[in-house]
Amino acid sequence: MSYNFDQIIDRQQTNNEKWDHRSEVFGTSDLLPLWVADMDFAVPPCVTAALTERIKHPVYGYSFPPPAFYQAVVDWIARRHQWTIQKDWLVVTSGVVPALALSVLAFTEPGESVIIQPPVYGPFFRVVEQNQRQLVLNPLKEENGRYTMDFDHLESVVNPSVKMMILCSPHNPAGRVWTREELEKLGAFCTRHRILLVSDEIHADLVYPNFKHTPIAALSPEQAYNTITCLAPSKTFNLPGLTTAVTIIPDPERRRRFKQVQSALGMQVYNTLGLTAFTAAYRGGTDWLAALIDYLQGNLDFLLDFFATRIPAIKPVPPEGTYLVWLDCRRLPLTPDELKAFFIHEAKVGLNDGRTFGPGGEGFQRINIACPRPLLAEALHRIEDAVGRLPLE
Ligand SMILES: Cc1ncc(COP(=O)(O)O)c(C=O)c1O
Repeated sequence: MSYNFDQIIDRQQTNNEKWDHRSEVFGTSDLLPLWVADMDFAVPPCVTAALTERIKHPVYGYSFPPPAFYQAVVDWIARRHQWTIQKDWLVVTSGVVPALALSVLAFTEPGESVIIQPPVYGPFFRVVEQNQRQLVLNPLKEENGRYTMDFDHLESVVNPSVKMMILCSPHNPAGRVWTREELEKLGAFCTRHRILLVSDEIHADLVYPNFKHTPIAALSPEQAYNTITCLAPSKTFNLPGLTTAVTIIPDPERRRRFKQVQSALGMQVYNTLGLTAFTAAYRGGTDWLAALIDYLQGNLDFLLDFFATRIPAIKPVPPEGTYLVWLDCRRLPLTPDELKAFFIHEAKVGLNDGRTFGPGGEGFQRINIACPRPLLAEALHRIEDAVGRLPLE
């Protein structure tokens, strides 16, 4: 079956953040939005079919995840990531960010510390700080446009108050798909210092050919016991508005504790349509996903070539996974505030300002390439024209 990812779908007036919140986010709606991490593509036909079938039944009462849901998750993770999990390790949440926040609340005390590795997805900061825990930063190292974890720095910042580390794997926005060796080293570090690892693997399925995602918990039974893995098909199949995710907690005591906090916060709630879409996508979405990755690779090649040949002053960091590309704009003669305004008002494209990813984000912008190629091409031409008007040497 072929899928038409080139089709431009008008998303305006559907209450979606990316297009309908442009004025609120950028101060103008006169721009092409390539920011928040969802896709401008239609979901797989198997998802539309399952939702249509469910919607035909006119009662949308309280629901629960049925056995078919759990089986679909177990099978997907085994097939896609060669990790065998048990159904009873799974806890359903309304998103990965809620699962991160629940983990912080369940497994750390106020005042204790959590390590994260900026530049990284903004909510990693918020789920720690807004719950009165301390952030300990281990910035990623950037060398020649490639990011790695700084293990020497990690050893130097660890202290007895650190109880948790939140890993972004694959990494948003640096685009790294961590290697087995890197993950083994990180896992050993956490075990040595009795630090619980929370691994956000929401981008796990979106990995380019030649790279392989390894769930860190799959490294060994010991690592599985010391890991909370947060997953969802929401990035993979474009379902984030259906607010359904799973958390994999092999340690029964930690699982009990996590569910207790979830219950205390009134967060044991399920989205009827989310469960339906999730199950259908994991059961029937494999071919669509292969076609999607192929299309994204085409977009990525197009973008990398475009910057190299037409806008050499901006250097994209080639991602190994995710549909998000981190753009190094530090050669442009602009302060961070000017850079942000430049993209909005001169190029008229809506990207994510690098500073929202924390230290190391200054001088960077993040572009989302999960859109029809003609739209991406239009955005890149706008950037080229705007950069052409800058006084570059
Ligand atoms: C690393 C990462 N985690 C979590 C999320 C969002 O997860 P959810 O919508 O399930 O809360 C995103 C979305 O961009 C993300 O990039």
